[in-house]
Amino acid sequence: TVPIGCGDKMWLLTALLLWVPVDGQVDSQTDSTKAVITLDPPWVSVFKGESVTFRCKGPGQPGNDSTQWFHNGSLIQTLNSTYSLTAASIYNSGEYMCQTALSVRSDPVQLEVHTGWLLLQVSSRVFTEGEPLALRCHGWRNKPVNNVVFYQNKKGFNFSHGTSEFNIPRTNMSHNGIYHCSGKGEQSTMYTSAGVSITVKELFSPPVLTASLSSLEGNPVNLSCEIKLPPQMPGLQLYFSFYMGNKILKGRNTSSEYQILTAKREDSGSYWCEAATEDGDIVKRSPEMELQVFGPQSPAFFWFHGFVYLTVGTAFLVNTVLCVKIEKDLRRLRKLYL
Ligand SMILES: *[C@@H]1O[C@H](CO)[C@@H](O)[C@H](O)[C@H]1NC(C)=O
Ligand SMILES: *[C@@H]1O[C@H](CO)[C@@H](O)[C@H](O)[C@H]1NC(C)=O
Ligand SMILES: *[C@@H]1O[C@H](CO)[C@@H](O)[C@H](O)[C@H]1NC(C)=O
Ligand SMILES: *[C@@H]1O[C@H](CO)[C@@H](O)[C@H](O)[C@H]1NC(C)=O
Ligand SMILES: *[C@@H]1O[C@H](CO)[C@@H](O)[C@H](O)[C@H]1NC(C)=O
Ligand SMILES: *[C@@H]1O[C@H](CO)[C@@H](O)[C@H](O)[C@H]1NC(C)=O
Ligand SMILES: *[C@@H]1O[C@H](CO)[C@@H](O)[C@H](O)[C@H]1NC(C)=O
Repeated sequence: TVPIGCGDKMWLLTALLLWVPVDGQVDSQTDSTKAVITLDPPWVSVFKGESVTFRCKGPGQPGNDSTQWFHNGSLIQTLNSTYSLTAASIYNSGEYMCQTALSVRSDPVQLEVHTGWLLLQVSSRVFTEGEPLALRCHGWRNKPVNNVVFYQNKKGFNFSHGTSEFNIPRTNMSHNGIYHCSGKGEQSTMYTSAGVSITVKELFSPPVLTASLSSLEGNPVNLSCEIKLPPQMPGLQLYFSFYMGNKILKGRNTSSEYQILTAKREDSGSYWCEAATEDGDIVKRSPEMELQVFGPQSPAFFWFHGFVYLTVGTAFLVNTVLCVKIEKDLRRLRKLYL
């Protein structure tokens, strides 16, 4: 029974091994044909009674705009690529998804329908670093709001008299947090909106610069600019630059390696690298790394050689003593038996 059981497991293992990469491939293919929902106006939260238009973008059959729309997981309409709510009700809150003829279902968009006096509207609640974020402090029935203040984690960051919109063209990790706004309505009444949680995901982690071990003068040294986690976006091409102090060693290359062909003592110093997206919108810098190149006259080199000579010398001495002793013993034995 043992060989059969083992065979079974082998088959399972083989099947798993074959299945995993195939699955990964399918995943990355379907990713590119995922439908995408956009909102017009762009806000994912609205007041009751306001209108919202959803648009779906994805590959379809030529001349056939047929698009499926889902609300809270159930199919609500199969018509065309736009779906409109002329007067949103509380029941229109929830999760929306769409699917065109040749796409897979889009990522969900969470619509919130609110009541109240002041609403902080956002263009999305979850971002990948680099995407734009728009904020709007919006009054009930479009009533004018004055002295608008936007807050991130309860700290005010923008004060304006006229406009009640604020744009962050490129989000980064510092934009994570809970946002709200306040403003004056009619008769100078102060209103404060509810908080909205904004999440920004890192597109790629900051790089770390490492050097190959050898650091004796005359030897090559390899520097490597490594990104620990794979980027959020599959297939994202990063560009790497290498620096020593203020000096650029190698600029904007897809290779994350840099080689010092023959290291000299002058190559000792502070090194760092940068990883950037193709458009250069997101650039991340590694911590500095100290590289020490030891020359033949350096104390380290001296100690290293001193240590080697001392070890070899000691071994030689011990050997000699042993040899002499063995020779003597042999001679004594010979004398005894012959
Ligand atoms: C979708 O259908 C609606 C109603 O039939 C129509 O008013 C609208 O123009 C259509 N939109 C597109 C993009 O074809
Ligand atoms: C959809 O889900 C949201 C939130 O879970 C809920 O508020 C809303 O009433 C639901 N609407 C329908 C029609 O199921
Ligand atoms: C459009 O495609 C859908 C399937 O996605 C199909 O049900 C429908 O009949 C097609 N309409 C036309 C006019 O070809
Ligand atoms: C607030 O934001 C608006 C629009 O982005 C800008 O014009 C204004 O200068 C900002 N005010 C302050 C105090 O930062
Ligand atoms: C994040 O973006 C803000 C501007 O919106 C900028 O001032 C800040 O330096 C950026 N932070 C990082 C870590 O890139
Ligand atoms: C350094 O890089 C070169 C070229 O990429 C490679 O041939 C060599 O083996 C590397 N050396 C070390 C110590 O990693
Ligand atoms: C990147 O570096 C490699 C070798 O270091 C070089 O052959 C290539 O031309 C460089 N590419 C660019 C765009 O500079």
